Amino acid sequence: MPTRIAVVTGASSGIGAATARRLDAAGFHVVAVARRAEKLDALVAELKTASSFVADVTSDASVAALAEHLESLDGEVELLVNNAGGAIGAETVEDADLADWQWMFDVNVLGTIRVTKALLPLLDRSGRGTIVIMSSTAGFVVYEGGGGYTAAKHAETAVAETLRLELSGRPIRVVEICPGMVRTDEFALKRYEGDAEKAAAVYAGVAEPLVAEDIAECVTWTATLPHHVNIDRLVVRPLAQAAQHKVHRVFE
Ligand SMILES: NC(=O)c1ccc[n+]([C@@H]2O[C@H](COP(=O)([O-])OP(=O)(O)OC[C@H]3O[C@@H](n4cnc5c(N)ncnc54)[C@H](OP(=O)(O)O)[C@@H]3O)[C@@H](O)[C@H]2O)c1
Repeated sequence: MPTRIAVVTGASSGIGAATARRLDAAGFHVVAVARRAEKLDALVAELKTASSFVADVTSDASVAALAEHLESLDGEVELLVNNAGGAIGAETVEDADLADWQWMFDVNVLGTIRVTKALLPLLDRSGRGTIVIMSSTAGFVVYEGGGGYTAAKHAETAVAETLRLELSGRPIRVVEICPGMVRTDEFALKRYEGDAEKAAAVYAGVAEPLVAEDIAECVTWTATLPHHVNIDRLVVRPLAQAAQHKVHRVFE
């Protein structure tokens, strides 16, 4: 049986790193992709069968080099987890910083499309491909101050749904995972540009937000079901988050 290769973008931290760990445990050879080499190296060192590739999903040349690298590996690229992404800023549309919006579109939306386009021939060739798109509950609900992120994640949702239609008849599943509140080390910190107090406030009083491992488990479940089973969209929230605006917080 050929080696089953899983490519995880944004694997240097948070959900991507946890997903790489979980897929490694499930028997995939994981190719961990992100821009920070040292973080990828540390991750790969703790895994059974994994390698890393430094790539920027916003760069055509970088993603072309990734595809070329994958071609050279001995195995079948069966799984692509488009996880690289994130949010910057919490301004209203009126006060939007267009550079932040540009970044969010470049990484979340165009990054996902760029990597997907480049890897589609390999996924097709495997005969049992799966593309996971790490969208968000922000992909179908908007909130004040979240315009740039929700617009980008809505676009990712549209890409996932379009892709599923367009790939009909080909051996490639398209799975969209929509996490609600996940406490990861970097997501909120990056959103508030290093302001630890604002980042901590996102999770304040929430007994148990989701953690990266919870989402990694979801990715692995959807990707290891029999190949004819396509989980179109999985919405995952912590128990404390009944809806986007309904978060149970307890303060001492
Ligand atoms: N945390 C949440 O509450 C939450 C909820 C719903 C959805 N999500 C989504 O889940 C995904 C992961 O989030 P997270 O919480 O794990 O955040 P995170 O820890 O900040 O991870 C983001 C990852 O994306 C990578 N990345 C950023 N820009 C990149 C680029 N240009 N090229 C390649 N990689 C890039 C980062 O690595 P480098 O900096 O090393 O490149 C990092 O590994 C994101 O798509 C996010 O929108 C998160």
